[in-house]
Amino acid sequence: MPSLLRATIAGLKTYKLTVEGFGTYEVPEGKKLVLALEESGVDVSHRCGGNARCTTCRVKFHSEEPPMGKVEHDSLEEDGELGNFRLSCQSRMDRDMHVEVLMRASVEGWDPGIEVEA
Ligand code: FES
Repeated sequence: MPSLLRATIAGLKTYKLTVEGFGTYEVPEGKKLVLALEESGVDVSHRCGGNARCTTCRVKFHSEEPPMGKVEHDSLEEDGELGNFRLSCQSRMDRDMHVEVLMRASVEGWDPGIEVEA
């Protein structure tokens, strides 16, 4: 069942997620961005299972960015990557988003990684 139909049936608000090179998808409000990408058919990496440690779920925003929490900030700062990309496992759908996935599993030659909890 398409995600828009599922969300409409459940009465949830949805946002548009546009992924460079893939398409535009309707995604329920509050869903983790990494899961929204994966459920839309984008093979985004998430090697640490969504714990802000591996940084393989990295995305570049081509639209307004959601707020950054302390866990994501500290992880990116520690790696010297603050301002270079965002972690899709640390963002939830709270607006329409347009992103570019920077590390796709099929391109990197690995499996996507540990399952990310909702
Ligand atoms: S930092 Fe590892 S999945 Fe996001």
